[in-house]
Amino acid sequence: MTDQTPKPNGQRIPNGMLEDNYPRNMWWVAAHRDEVTTKPLARWLLEVPVVLYRLADGTPAALYDRCPHRWAPLSEGHVERDRLICPYHGMEFDTGGQCVKAPTQTMMPKTAQIPSFTVREAGAFIWIWMGDQEAIDCDPPEVGYQIDPNWSVVNGYYEVAANWVLIRENVLDLTHIAFLHKNTFKQDDWITAPDTYMEGETVCYEQEFDLAPLSPLFCAGMGLPEDKPIKRVQKGRMPSLAISFSDWNVYDPAPEAGRRSDFIMRGCHIVTPSTRGHTHYFWAAAFDVPEISEDVAVKTKASVTAAFDEDKNLLEKLQASVAADPRGLDFLEVTLGADGAGIKVRQILNKKLAAEGRSLR
Ligand code: FES
Ligand SMILES: [Fe+2]
Repeated sequence: MTDQTPKPNGQRIPNGMLEDNYPRNMWWVAAHRDEVTTKPLARWLLEVPVVLYRLADGTPAALYDRCPHRWAPLSEGHVERDRLICPYHGMEFDTGGQCVKAPTQTMMPKTAQIPSFTVREAGAFIWIWMGDQEAIDCDPPEVGYQIDPNWSVVNGYYEVAANWVLIRENVLDLTHIAFLHKNTFKQDDWITAPDTYMEGETVCYEQEFDLAPLSPLFCAGMGLPEDKPIKRVQKGRMPSLAISFSDWNVYDPAPEAGRRSDFIMRGCHIVTPSTRGHTHYFWAAAFDVPEISEDVAVKTKASVTAAFDEDKNLLEKLQASVAADPRGLDFLEVTLGADGAGIKVRQILNKKLAAEGRSLR
């Protein structure tokens, strides 16, 4: 067999989809705040087993999820007097990861210290910083609207068997909606590239659309009929590699008597590396409408999930195929106009890794 590999064009900016491409010196989401309680939660983050828990006063804490005695997962233990207690032989750890009691002996094993991680609760999420403590130079990104009663939030979580950067690029190039999601989103007019630009460190895109029926995914949340032509402006923002937003700014030019004409659906896409080739994906679809009904929330969640299942399926097959192909990354990769925001993702990623003394192949 002759080698069928097309020649790479040499211009490719690597995204590291087959390797450890996780910047350490940034905030990643460890969990939704509702997941973290005084009952320990096990979660792989950036290829590290982490245990998350709360102290009696609600403060979140995170330790390496491996007892230094015989390596039992501490997440199988429990929290008592603000100490995490190993389920195997009862060693007790404080929030700094220091063993403060070994109940089977009187002498304290002073070397029994495991890594602890800085965590912060901000908005609806628990964020974690897994790099240098001295490098913490910012607060976690703002997601306060998700706990604002003026908004109705429909959210969900997936573990996706694909590298985080594939999801990040996916949600920043929504021209795929007209193709991959033609039977779910049913929004076939997004077929040209948006304007892409930077606002400080934030990657942004923006595009206006002519009158057209709104995707049925969002009609119920806004109380709009599925066949009614509306105007919309799509605006996206990526304040950090960990999180991006996609706003559907909707304008109804002929609202029914007493009804609003403007609505926002703010999509939120949070990705956190898990084990190699796996990603935690926290999503939310939020409407600037207080208290949508339970029926509308259930319907919206079902339809958004049906659409995101299509992304998950495609990205998992993409990852598996590239990983199994002996030619791997040595294959032509063409960039289109609609990849503007995705290219900025790669540039930011490579810059962040370079600042940590690392590079991608
Ligand atoms: S393995 Fe944790 S105390 Fe023995
Ligand atoms: Fe999608």
